[in-house]
Amino acid sequence: MSHQLIRSLLFKFDAEFSHDLTLKALSLSNKIGLLSFLKPPNPCKLRTVMGIPFQNPVGLAAGLDKNANHIDALGKLGFGFIEVGTITPRPQIGNPKPRLFRLPEVQGIINRFGFNNVGLETAVENIRLSKYKGVLGINIGKNFDTPIEKAGDDYLLCMKKVYQYANYIAINISSPNTKNLRDLQETKALNILLAQLKEEQTRLADYYGRYVPIALKISPDLTDKHLDTISKSIIKNRIDGVIATNTTISRESVSDLFNGKEVGGMSGKPLFKLSNSIIRELYERLQGEVPIIGVGGIFSGEDALEKINAGAELVQIYSGLVYQGRKLVLDACQSIG
Ligand SMILES: Cc1cc2nc3c(=O)[nH]c(=O)nc-3n(C[C@H](O)[C@H](O)[C@H](O)COP(=O)(O)O)c2cc1C
Repeated sequence: MSHQLIRSLLFKFDAEFSHDLTLKALSLSNKIGLLSFLKPPNPCKLRTVMGIPFQNPVGLAAGLDKNANHIDALGKLGFGFIEVGTITPRPQIGNPKPRLFRLPEVQGIINRFGFNNVGLETAVENIRLSKYKGVLGINIGKNFDTPIEKAGDDYLLCMKKVYQYANYIAINISSPNTKNLRDLQETKALNILLAQLKEEQTRLADYYGRYVPIALKISPDLTDKHLDTISKSIIKNRIDGVIATNTTISRESVSDLFNGKEVGGMSGKPLFKLSNSIIRELYERLQGEVPIIGVGGIFSGEDALEKINAGAELVQIYSGLVYQGRKLVLDACQSIG
């Protein structure tokens, strides 16, 4: 069945229901061997980013597999890397439903999930049980009820537990759906957090005899001044990579649409230009010292290439996969080469 047909059926149901159903169907298809018939992407140039060799520069962005339940199946779709999470120390149910909304007119999505996840212990167990051998990023965050002054404790706890299973660890301080989370992007708080994470990373690298890079995931709703201070803090604290960007709270050009005024983070096509401009600005400030993983609104091979031209070394996809299916992964991979 074509992706368009499946999509038009799924789009008749509630967005979160369809999302869960699709992931379950994917894992079932994998269990019965159907995904083994999928055509792999054409070979790409091998690149090393953050010290990790990537066979293919197109990754799955965080949030699709929050609980690391579907890694094996997602690993068959042709991605060069998969990022699971956001995982928080304790399980939490997230915001009340409905909390996921489609904007089909502009191929956008608004979500206000609020880090619903099974918590660190169960997620790590899921990762441990997976058979996936590719590059795995583990995205970590804080519980909604941890006071922001204590956020560092949550990140450190998550980092300690996921370290030995991750190829890289993504630090999510940019979701708009956890109250005050984005305050961690402010200079003083960010410097404290990044210094704590660096210290813990050094200790863990010693303990396990393996260096696992850290990538900071930032918001697209940042001013030039914010970008100045964030870039300085990233360089100063020797953070290994930046993921740009998370979803936006801006509603430019969508506020008149059905669902356009829903509260939450918007992703998909309406985010493309904004995230590209952040990547460009960031690239100028980081001067090639810290690699950028570009994410936001990729819907074609050309879009993926535009992110690379803006300064990204790798890209990630989420909303485009929902609207276009896995062909997008192959197209993006082919265009970047
Ligand atoms: C439904 C949904 C849930 C998401 N959950 C997370 C999350 O838990 N952690 C995170 O870092 N990003 C999360 N994101 C953001 C994506 O990883 C990505 O940064 C953003 O959607 C932009 O990419 P896209 O336009 O390709 O979707 C989520 C996005 C969507 C659409």
